[in-house]
Amino acid sequence: MSVMESAAADEAVLPELRHWRFEVDFEEMGWLTIDTPDSAVNTLGSATLAELEVVVAQIETLAAAGTLKGVVLMSGKPGKFIAGADVAEFDTMSEPAVLQVALERAHKLFDRIEALGVPMVAAIHGYCLGGGLELALACRYRIAVDDEATRLGFPEVKLGIFPGFGGTGRSIRQMGPVDAMQIMLTGRLLRARQARAAGLVDKLVRHPDSLRWEGRKAVLQKRSSSTAPFAKRLLAMGPLRRQAAERMRQEVARKARDVHYPAPYALIELFEAHGDDWKAMKEGEIARFVPLMSGSTARNLRRVFFLSESLKRQGLRGSEKPVFRRVHVIGAGVMGGDIAAWCALRGMAVTLQDLDMERIAPALARAEKLFKKRLKGRTEIANALARLEADPLGKGLPRADVIIEAVVERLDVKRTIFADAEARAKPGAILATNTSSIPLEQIAEELAQPARLIGLHFFNPVAQLPLVEVIRSRFNTDRDVAMGASFALAIGKSPVAVKSAPGFLVNRVLMPYMLGAVERVEQGASKEQIDAAAVAYGMPMGPIELMDTVGLDVGRSVAEELGHAVPPQSTFARLVAENKLGRKAGEGFYKWRDGRPVKGEPPPHPDLAALGAELVQPLIAETQRAVDEGIVAGEDLADIGVILGTGFAPFRGGPLRARAQGSA
Ligand code: NAI
Repeated sequence: MSVMESAAADEAVLPELRHWRFEVDFEEMGWLTIDTPDSAVNTLGSATLAELEVVVAQIETLAAAGTLKGVVLMSGKPGKFIAGADVAEFDTMSEPAVLQVALERAHKLFDRIEALGVPMVAAIHGYCLGGGLELALACRYRIAVDDEATRLGFPEVKLGIFPGFGGTGRSIRQMGPVDAMQIMLTGRLLRARQARAAGLVDKLVRHPDSLRWEGRKAVLQKRSSSTAPFAKRLLAMGPLRRQAAERMRQEVARKARDVHYPAPYALIELFEAHGDDWKAMKEGEIARFVPLMSGSTARNLRRVFFLSESLKRQGLRGSEKPVFRRVHVIGAGVMGGDIAAWCALRGMAVTLQDLDMERIAPALARAEKLFKKRLKGRTEIANALARLEADPLGKGLPRADVIIEAVVERLDVKRTIFADAEARAKPGAILATNTSSIPLEQIAEELAQPARLIGLHFFNPVAQLPLVEVIRSRFNTDRDVAMGASFALAIGKSPVAVKSAPGFLVNRVLMPYMLGAVERVEQGASKEQIDAAAVAYGMPMGPIELMDTVGLDVGRSVAEELGHAVPPQSTFARLVAENKLGRKAGEGFYKWRDGRPVKGEPPPHPDLAALGAELVQPLIAETQRAVDEGIVAGEDLADIGVILGTGFAPFRGGPLRARAQGSA
């Protein structure tokens, strides 16, 4: 055979790889690099796995011929290992017969990797999640860079499924049953060091540049990972396993019901059946996985995932992408103080203005608490504190890229503030108000350039609620709104663009729902039963408890502003008159103790979830009206906005999707 012919024959065996590179160097060391084309991250889609089958066959051949010492698996994208399976393919994969075959094929492939005659070592830097971690677990040894970029874990539960490429059994083998179940049930991601301590990773390196060297060494020294010690495995043996499963069920039940979120329960069932035998667990995985993928919860959670991702594409991109470094916040109250702290936490240099130092001090104290909770290590906390500066004289304003006003809800005060801000702000700086009820146009119309003002409507508590409504007045252009969205994204929030109209989106849809529930209570319904029904439907909190939490005074003024009069003889009006304003006053519809409502036993009800579905009808109808009136651009945005802003049952896919699916 001529040289040309043999090259052609080789090509026939190894088609051109699009997702992987595989090279064998002069030392007979194999370097396998994943690099998903046209994508910022690496994922394990069906084409990627099909190509991997080809590569693995080649590795098997070379290993059998004795011309390969081993393989190091790496990423071609610096700081990004493998983000998981390709979620975009999941909908086509939800057909049970198709999924069954795909999973069996992936299992077989990963088993072949594990059985290779030469070691395969995973060299991890960046996110190593879901299917990526499952692939790493099929390798003989795992090395990870110990830095901020590296995270390992199984976020599958958040998509209504659990690991399906053999990860349930293999994680138990490496970490022991309790730790492995913990990360699979919660979706919690581990840093490199935590993963090392838990047994998921065998060796840490400090710097990404060391990965290749350490990978090579691990291959040459034929290192292999050790499995979880006996003491850990013991916890999955005999009656201990049943007890452990029961504890896990109780733990999960506190957060999610099995009718709403079946995946964690199915995983616990799998563990209860096979938790002491990792191979059996791996084999039982597919049967329990397949029905989850096609269920409505997984489908709706995928929708929420894609909609959340789509929000990230709203900002300005490419050369237009703005850089935000400095934020000036005016008003250091509940909202302004927490917005300032959040911006500093997310890396901005922040100046915080109020009438005097006394009014700024409590915000700084709250910020310190937040930093201590969210940041690791003293230096990081000290740096965040240094980024947040009290600024009673407003000296930071002219340097700021973004100026956010969160002072008292009074038009005259806000107008004065923006007149001054417009005069002193640098050109191009965003001027934003956090108002929840004043029409944006009224604040903007006195400015020299009214188009400069947008709304950035945050939600309380700022650190917990991801949504920011980017409010557009009739003066604004698409670009103004995109700038606002860019900023929200820069501080890790989820922006939804909303037209300036009473209640914007979230308050507008919440109010008829809360008032509808209040009216039922006024007419004699049990408030405990109403709240229990909403929770049974999948809301994070019942509407009466929510009204108490928001504050009855705030609730009433928002209601009136939206045109819902509160009858003067009503219990609602009486409670406000008696200063029983809810949680903050210690009493509202409920009495409150230690930040919790004191609830009596609700009377029995034959179908609480059905009652809950009735209760959310006004919310759904109002969401539809907001779409019809063009307040928000389309049903998808409305659904994700309401989910992020109100906690509306994510497993139902949003209010409009729930109605379309007949679950509301
Ligand atoms: P707050 O009463 O807690 O804080 C307002 C702060 O503004 C006070 O510290 C006050 O001293 C300061 N202030 C008043 N005039 C000032 C001036 N001329 N210069 C500098 N500072 C001044 O009020 P809160 O609740 O933080 O609300 C602020 C804004 O945020 C309002 O527009 C409100 O509608 C909006 N909002 C409130 C939410 C909430 O849940 N509290 C949620 C979303 C928006």
